[in-house]
Amino acid sequence: MKKVFLITAFYVTALLCVTAQVKKPQPKVVANNPAASIQRGKAVYQKECLSCHQADGGGVPRLNPPLYESTTISGDKKKIISIVLRGMTDRVPIDGEYYSNNMAAHAELSNQQIADVLTFIRASWGNKASAVTPAEVKAVRGVKKK
Ligand code: HEC
Repeated sequence: MKKVFLITAFYVTALLCVTAQVKKPQPKVVANNPAASIQRGKAVYQKECLSCHQADGGGVPRLNPPLYESTTISGDKKKIISIVLRGMTDRVPIDGEYYSNNMAAHAELSNQQIADVLTFIRASWGNKASAVTPAEVKAVRGVKKK
């Protein structure tokens, strides 16, 4: 009897392992946010943005703003595209807080990379905003800053 139990337990465990492998955790896909863009954007984020905005998007108090629960991130795409392209040094409050560090310009990134990283941010840490496309980045890049 014990043997039967052990054999059954073995098969159940094996089956669970197989199912677990089949059901690999997929990146969370929000409507309009192609999973591939989010995946590429995560890599760009880790290389270019993580040092200031941190792995969890939480930023550093009074130095670098968090990128979650931010009205800007989920808001006007043109504004955040412009911030990534041209940086941000204004001493303006972001959701009621001031941040003393400067946001560097990242114009050297391609339109695709900027679209990907913003798509990733807009789909992460509780943000649920639509994807940003390379064409939208291209349009903002073409406009001179006032
Ligand atoms: C050197 C540190 C640093 C790096 C690197 C950096 N940021 Fe920032 N970022 C900041 C700071 C500081 C601010 C706020 C600037 C201010 O208040 O004038 C900011 C602001 C922003 C904002 C506006 C936030 C809001 O709610 O208005 C966005 C969007 C943003 N960063 C995205 C990015 C992305 C995407 C990257 C990577 C491509 C990146 N940042 C890399 C420091 C950084």
